[in-house]
Amino acid sequence: MAERRSVILGTGSALPQREMLNAELEGIVDTSDEWIVERTGIRSRRIAGEGESTSTLATAAARRAIEAAGLDAGDIGLIIVATATPDHTFPSVGTQVQAALGVNDCVAFDVQAVCSGFLYALSVADSMIRTGAAEKALVIGAETMSRILDWEDRTTCVLFGDGAGAVVVGAETGDRGILATRLHADGRFRSMLYVDGGPSSTGTVGKVRMRGREVFRHAVVNLADVLVEVMDAAGLKPEDIDWLVPHQANMRILEGTARKLGLPREKVVVTVDRHANTSAASVPLALDTAVRDGRVKRGDLIVLEAMGGGFTWGAAVVRF
Ligand code: ACO
Repeated sequence: MAERRSVILGTGSALPQREMLNAELEGIVDTSDEWIVERTGIRSRRIAGEGESTSTLATAAARRAIEAAGLDAGDIGLIIVATATPDHTFPSVGTQVQAALGVNDCVAFDVQAVCSGFLYALSVADSMIRTGAAEKALVIGAETMSRILDWEDRTTCVLFGDGAGAVVVGAETGDRGILATRLHADGRFRSMLYVDGGPSSTGTVGKVRMRGREVFRHAVVNLADVLVEVMDAAGLKPEDIDWLVPHQANMRILEGTARKLGLPREKVVVTVDRHANTSAASVPLALDTAVRDGRVKRGDLIVLEAMGGGFTWGAAVVRF
């Protein structure tokens, strides 16, 4: 009997109005366009302004994904938002999106796994769809990282941006859909990438702190390992893959991961130059970009991956 799978029915994304080029950062901290481009590949990022928040960006991305799927908001039975920068400590961004879309009764919640959040959320939605707990789900990655950056710390503030990406996944039987997912976490590495505040510790929101060089080293190893693991689980080899849609942290991490797998550079979707690191939003933002510009087509085999604070990391293989 054909297997019940979670198929990506539509994608969408949203970015804040305001663009911040590297040159603008030169006036804020002691940095240069040349250093940022050479070390990270980042040239520009979007920064949320007045009236823009994680929930407004998430809602805009969700509307576009629902439209692309040819559905109405009322068809959605499950909303999962991956975010580390919710509008409020509670209620969840998921319920805010639900209300904004006018969906009456559905399941809605947030997942917090920082940059890997979208992979975690997609895996949870996939499990719920395959067991019949949901038929159609909205999975969103949305962040306003700019609101938790220390704008005096040049080692972090140049790296991040704001945005949201979304997919609608629905149950279908057949060859298409999510073929395998793999998730990992190792909380011993907390001190390498964390936020120095929170509701139950300082009572403040806190700012991002990072030991960039160590994060970089772990990222290349963990991402290559989880990609091999997820492809093995799906019975695939790197040469079978049409597109790698990676978390957009740093061009050198993307290139290092692709090189380890023997994947040509042309098969890697890159948006870090324009969006910087948008944490949980980066994978669905990159996916939507490549779907809308015609690179990713129905039937293509795509691999998604991410790593973030915790550490957490994960990957998914999808027949689009
Ligand atoms: N502008 C100019 N100089 C800078 C800046 C800056 N913005 N930031 C740091 N420097 C300086 C440092 O002070 C250091 O100077 P020193 O040699 O006099 O001490 C020098 O540049 C080199 O610093 P390193 O940290 O060794 O530079 P590196 O080549 O490792 O690049 C970077 C730093 C870009 C942070 C890199 O380590 C990285 O991308 N790490 C991964 C971090 C990441 O992406 N985290 C996001 C979340 S996790 C994830 O998504 C995978």
